[in-house]
Amino acid sequence: MRLFLAINLSEPMKAALVDAQNEMYDRGIRGNYAPEENLHLTLAFIGEYPDAGPVLEALSTVSFSPFELRLEGMGCFGDLWWAGMRASAPLNALARRIRHALAENGIPFDRKRFSPHITLLRKARGAMPGIPVGSASMTVNAVSLMRSDRGKTGMLYTELGKLAADQNAAEPE
Ligand code: 2AM
Repeated sequence: MRLFLAINLSEPMKAALVDAQNEMYDRGIRGNYAPEENLHLTLAFIGEYPDAGPVLEALSTVSFSPFELRLEGMGCFGDLWWAGMRASAPLNALARRIRHALAENGIPFDRKRFSPHITLLRKARGAMPGIPVGSASMTVNAVSLMRSDRGKTGMLYTELGKLAADQNAAEPE
C-alpha cells in the first residue's frame, strides 16, 4: 500500500482553500483540482510499504506540542499549484522529528527536502494569478498516517492511525 504522513486540515482551513480554488476556476484556470476532502499537508512520503504497524510504532516515538499553522501565499512546482504556509519553526521541527523517527526505524521515505505545501491543483492550465489565499489558521493537534489509493474518479485517502500532540504542553505564542 502507498503511505504518507500528513497533517489533515480543519474544516475552516479547507473552506478557505476551496474559496481560492473557486476563484482560480472563475478566472479560467483549468486542471485537476484537489477535492476538498483530499486537502492536506504532507510531512513525509513513504510510498509503497507493506505494513502500517511499524510506521505507527515509529510515529509513536515522536512528541510535539500543538502549534499554529497559517496559510500564506501560493506557489507552484511546474504545473502543480499549491497554497503555502507562514514559515513555522514548530512545523519544520515536526517534519524533521518524524523523518528522523522513520529513518531510525528503517522505514524508507522520500528524502527530498521538506517543502511545506498544500496541493490545490495539478496539471494547471493558465497563468498563475495573484490570488489571495485567505489567511486562515488552525491548531495542529495530530499527525495522520494516510493510505492513498487510486479510485475511479481520483485519489482516495484513508487515515490508518494518528499521533496526537502532547496536549498539556501548548506552544507559547
Ligand atoms: P504533492 O501534493 O506535491 O504531489 C500523497 O501523494 C502526498 O504525498 C501528496 O501530498 C504528495 O505531494 C506527497 N508526496 C511527496 N513526495 C511524493 C512522491 N515522491 N510521490 C508522490 N507523492 C509525494
